[in-house]
Amino acid sequence: MSYTPKMREQIKKVEATRAERVKQNFPRMNPEQKDNVLKNFHPDYIEASMRALPVGVNKGDRVPHELADLIEARSRVENIKFDLEDIAYDVDVLVVGGGGAGASAALLAQEQDADVLMVTKLRFGDANTVMAQGGIQGADKENDSPAIHYLDVMGGGHYTNVPELVRALTMDAPIALKWLEYLGTMFDKFEDGTMKSIHGGGTSRKRMHSARDYSGAEIMRTLRDEVRNRGVRVIEFCSVVELLLDEDGKCGGAILYNMETGEYEIARAKTVIMAVGGSGRLHYQGFPTTNHYGATGDGLIMGYRAGAKLAFMNTIQYHPTGAAYPPQILGLLITEKVRGLGAEPVNIDGAQFVFHLETRDVEASAIIREVKQNGKGVTTPTGMVGVWLDSPMIDIIHGPGTIEKELPAMVRQFARFGVDIVRDPMLIYPALHYQNGGLLIDENGMTNVENLYVAGEGAGGIHGKNRLMGNSLLDIVVFGRRAGKHAGARVKDITVKKLNMDHVASYHKELEDNGVDTAGRVSPLLLPRYTHRIDE
Ligand code: FUM
Repeated sequence: MSYTPKMREQIKKVEATRAERVKQNFPRMNPEQKDNVLKNFHPDYIEASMRALPVGVNKGDRVPHELADLIEARSRVENIKFDLEDIAYDVDVLVVGGGGAGASAALLAQEQDADVLMVTKLRFGDANTVMAQGGIQGADKENDSPAIHYLDVMGGGHYTNVPELVRALTMDAPIALKWLEYLGTMFDKFEDGTMKSIHGGGTSRKRMHSARDYSGAEIMRTLRDEVRNRGVRVIEFCSVVELLLDEDGKCGGAILYNMETGEYEIARAKTVIMAVGGSGRLHYQGFPTTNHYGATGDGLIMGYRAGAKLAFMNTIQYHPTGAAYPPQILGLLITEKVRGLGAEPVNIDGAQFVFHLETRDVEASAIIREVKQNGKGVTTPTGMVGVWLDSPMIDIIHGPGTIEKELPAMVRQFARFGVDIVRDPMLIYPALHYQNGGLLIDENGMTNVENLYVAGEGAGGIHGKNRLMGNSLLDIVVFGRRAGKHAGARVKDITVKKLNMDHVASYHKELEDNGVDTAGRVSPLLLPRYTHRIDE
């Protein structure tokens, strides 16, 4: 659906201010202005959007209702009788999840001579990794260092991040980039072979490394090939529905669920690495999401029931630039690389209203303010309201052909619906993109439940209250590798004792003792509510 005649008229106002905007340097917000816009317009600050958890290790902590509903639910396998001695798979390391974190973990665990099994709910590679567009951060330039990267990450997270995790992230970043390149990732380079890099929101140095605007797909391609080539066992369409603990309360395996046949099997494992991603498909506060279909927060639920602590699950990331039009791609990620290359958010009058590279939470809040408070949004025929992201500025700044060269996937996505982003701006509005928090890990990726590791979006603490662009592709590799290496190296010293599901029974009892009305809900969800389920 290309732009309507009315929208074409409105675009003329954007065109009219371009010459002036090229010359101006729109001011960044000062700390007070940032605080103000966040408190008044960021969705996390809407009191009524969250509630305190009534049970579990984070009792009293507030999380979004959509997640609380799943935490205040009974196990989906409560009424099934399992013979936990009937072991179908007996392995050293069970990796749950087939995205970038799971693949990195599997590779490093196998390098420790561990027997590794990967199970993944959908196909190997169906994950947010493959949908990540803009790039991966890493301080590998002369004017940069892990220390400067560290400061940017801490600043982006409002200095709430766990310092040790940020240290690990930023110190390992150059190693992660080298490793990916060694495995075959085709990063964008200059003719002399040095890496191209640009700014992202909140970065003080140009350290965003990309593969055009399909960086995640390129990284996932490399990692998946490597896992396949090294012969790691992978079972697709196989989810985990509950963790198993042993008599000492240590993690010792999981109940697997065949998504095609509906059958269950028991996996015993000396260590379990959950790399199952985030929870965007819970559509917090009704936001459309950039996330893939499997992002239903399963890891949070199963880990929490097993006693693992949550951190920062009251902070959700709304990507400033989700597609608001055409309606067929509502919520589709419009990479921050578009702004990194110079595209500016502009209102219905053609006026820029925010510096284009504020941190994501601030940028998203400023867009919401422009629409909700200032009434300067553009309304689409379906009633959606957004602001313009003036993509043609990129070719004005960097020269003709830049958009097609740097953003080929974005150009194609919009061209399918008759929108030419080389000539016309895109209409955008914040979309649910990422859970900033997750299950709290240490520097090796281990949770407070011994032998249970988490890597990727399901892990909490690294990004504090707000993640910067490009630090997610980075953290999946850094903490995937760390978890895989640590878990794989330790298995020789681990003996799994008799498995049980006592933690599930105790959790149910705690729900009952606290009078929690679970309203017939079961979790983990496994697939979004609007998908067809084989068990319904
Ligand atoms: O905007 C983006 O390309 C997204 C990247 C990220 O979330 O790190």
